[in-house]
Amino acid sequence: MMMFGLSTTCALALVSGAWAIPSQVSGRQAAFRSTAITDFASPWALAFLPDNRILVTEKAGQLRLLDPNTKAKGTVTGVPRVRNAGQGGFGDVALHPNYAENNLIYISYSEPGSGTQANAAVARAKLVLNNSGGGALQDLQVIWRQNQQFGGDGHFSHRLLFDSNNSTLFISSGERQQFDPAQSLTSNLGKIIRLNDDGTPKEGNPYFSRGGVSAQIWALGVRNPLGIDWDEQGRLWEIEMGPQGGDEINLIEKGGNYGWPIVSQGNHYDGRPIPNHNTRPEFIPPKAFWVPVISPSSLVIYKGDLFRNWKGNAIISGLGAQGLVRVEITGNNAREVQRLSLGKRIRSVRQGPDGALYVLEDGQGGRLLKLTPN
Ligand SMILES: *[C@@H]1O[C@H](CO)[C@@H](O)[C@H](O)[C@H]1NC(C)=O
Ligand SMILES: *[C@@H]1O[C@H](CO)[C@@H](O)[C@H](O)[C@H]1NC(C)=O
Ligand SMILES: *[C@@H]1O[C@H](CO)[C@@H](O)[C@H](O)[C@H]1NC(C)=O
Repeated sequence: MMMFGLSTTCALALVSGAWAIPSQVSGRQAAFRSTAITDFASPWALAFLPDNRILVTEKAGQLRLLDPNTKAKGTVTGVPRVRNAGQGGFGDVALHPNYAENNLIYISYSEPGSGTQANAAVARAKLVLNNSGGGALQDLQVIWRQNQQFGGDGHFSHRLLFDSNNSTLFISSGERQQFDPAQSLTSNLGKIIRLNDDGTPKEGNPYFSRGGVSAQIWALGVRNPLGIDWDEQGRLWEIEMGPQGGDEINLIEKGGNYGWPIVSQGNHYDGRPIPNHNTRPEFIPPKAFWVPVISPSSLVIYKGDLFRNWKGNAIISGLGAQGLVRVEITGNNAREVQRLSLGKRIRSVRQGPDGALYVLEDGQGGRLLKLTPN
């Protein structure tokens, strides 16, 4: 069933005791405490190293290494040239599940093509760190590319997610604002991609026997999928920015077709209507959608112990929402239960090894915030 997420207040009522001085009773207490660690130049994504240091990508093409204890920020050299324009630039960063042995990291970015054209690309490289808080990428190999280039600099999406079971790499590949490629089996745009860790298509993919880019496809008919994560049962969830209205959270199934651009709960930006999901039952509808939009920028399904009541919830960062949106997953259903306002456009949320949530604000001077329960 589709449903609107219900929004409840982001603060818990503070029960004031008899000792309280009436003028100081605020009546509200935030559900979390936010601590700013440092800031970056348009940060886009972050990943934790086993030693708890944090890799942060900056959209213009810098890879930074932060020691959250000393707040020292180093640089990792060797990032490929990116096209930093519009929504494109340096994107995501993820560690190989066997990083401790192979030191491999994976990065995504908008790769410059001819003129103003570009495509999303994914590369892997060995991360070689030095003793002064910096390092270099070595033996960089581009292991995946979108097979069509366009101008416009929108909808690259390019989030990365590993399945630690057998080192499977998932890539969320946006449709570059071109609509129809999302339904085409000869395009890898508008798709959820499933690969081996060397970039070759994964056996068991629904169109594996067709070869070419068809063999890379795990699911299709997605628009601008900016977040993917596992739930505790090993199911894959995805969030995507919809058109005018209609941001979605989807439960991704092997071979599933999510209907973009044929159906959506939103409409085109020029006002032309798009048929709703209920007109075409062959396409899988979202588990929840948002009108007005939240502009979802990343997704983490919380698996920690620190926020005790949030285990198994989808935590979505929002640009337009200027904070986090907490979505409760019950069986096959999803429903918004809380808005956590941070007062800034939020680019990314990740769960730290300590169970805290680490949040990147969007744009120049975007801060890294650590959220812990109050
Ligand atoms: C460590 O790596 C950074 C980035 O490549 C570099 O600027 C710095 O000079 C290196 N330090 C040493 C001691 O090699
Ligand atoms: C691991 O992957 C195999 C096949 O790739 C699958 O059959 C199995 O269910 C997976 N195990 C878990 C725990 O996800
Ligand atoms: C891991 O992936 C390889 C290549 O796709 C496959 O041959 C193998 O059976 C898989 N192993 C498990 C445990 O899923």
